[in-house]
Amino acid sequence: MIYRKLGSSDLNVSAVALGTWGLGGGSVWSDKDSTVAEAKALLDACREQGINYVDTAPVYGTGASEELLGAALAGRRHDFILQTKCSLNWRGEGGNFHYSRDGYTVNNDTRPEAIRRDVEDSLRRMKTDYLDSVIVHYVCKSFPVADTVGALEALIREGKIRAYGLSNSQPSDLEQYQSAPDKQQGVAVVQEFFSVLSPFHGRDYFPVCEKYGTTFQTYGVLEEGFLTGPEFLERKFAKTDIRARIPWVAESYHEGLRRAFEVWKPLCAAHGCSYAQLVEAWALAQFPDMSLLVGMRKPANVADTVRCLELKLTAEELAVIEETVKSIQVEVLDK
Ligand SMILES: NC(=O)c1ccc[n+]([C@@H]2O[C@H](COP(=O)([O-])OP(=O)(O)OC[C@H]3O[C@@H](n4cnc5c(N)ncnc54)[C@H](OP(=O)(O)O)[C@@H]3O)[C@@H](O)[C@H]2O)c1
Repeated sequence: MIYRKLGSSDLNVSAVALGTWGLGGGSVWSDKDSTVAEAKALLDACREQGINYVDTAPVYGTGASEELLGAALAGRRHDFILQTKCSLNWRGEGGNFHYSRDGYTVNNDTRPEAIRRDVEDSLRRMKTDYLDSVIVHYVCKSFPVADTVGALEALIREGKIRAYGLSNSQPSDLEQYQSAPDKQQGVAVVQEFFSVLSPFHGRDYFPVCEKYGTTFQTYGVLEEGFLTGPEFLERKFAKTDIRARIPWVAESYHEGLRRAFEVWKPLCAAHGCSYAQLVEAWALAQFPDMSLLVGMRKPANVADTVRCLELKLTAEELAVIEETVKSIQVEVLDK
């Protein structure tokens, strides 16, 4: 495993991080509700493979992902760098309407008192007294950034969190957060959609991350499974499932994806790797301070994923991998 400092923080995180949106189940990852035993087995597999960095969010399964992790982390909390999010909550205390789902109304609220309540709620659900990293889940233009930064920096001083970051943001948001009057540690990480099918937003972001020494963290590098192989295209999902709501579910994209798997097949054979590892290695090669966040619910996927770190693709191979999907790449994804 490769370990790197997370941006401006003193956290030493594995280059591959465990994503636990799927662990939350519910109507969004509708094929499976995970158990505590499964969450424990997943963390065991992460330990075995050297992954110490775990990402979750209050809204993943509306509290379920955090609660499962809390139970699975009992007795070994300090072995992991735990990252969760703030701003999206279902307490009904104001903020901007974000979505209604599974009987809950979720609002986006980045005001200091909401951020503080979010952190307290996550600490309780995960049965811990500190969070290593807290990411603003959706940056929000309605409330002053200076106040949000003030709240996050105060939480660091109090020892409740050790670092903070942004998600679903623009490079200009990072500039604004880094210029806030109360900024001390600053933004350690930005977590943004990035894959060979949607690389443009990340590419806009890389120079600004470089300027501030901020880690760029990918999400959706496997496009929720659509980049794991042609068999995945045959799967059917409930209407509410994320995998039924992203572009790749449409037949119109399947021809392009099937063609890509055909072109990638000999590359996988030459490197002895899976399609997942191939596109993950492609992503890692795009920016030096890249944190690869991958959603995994099966221990076998953890073992498979970490092997992407050993893959060395040539410049020509990297170019071919992207060239094959050029005609179906998209600028913006909303997950
Ligand atoms: N900030 C945000 O707004 C935001 C949005 C989306 C995601 N995220 C975060 O980013 C994480 C990653 O994104 P994601 O989970 O949506 O999508 P993803 O990482 O692109 O794909 C996850 C899917 O890929 C499968 N998979 C993983 N490794 C595999 C392997 N080696 N071989 C075959 N299949 C494999 C998983 O299967 P199994 O489940 O069966 O293991 C899962 O179905 C999330 O879990 C979450 O923590 C953040």
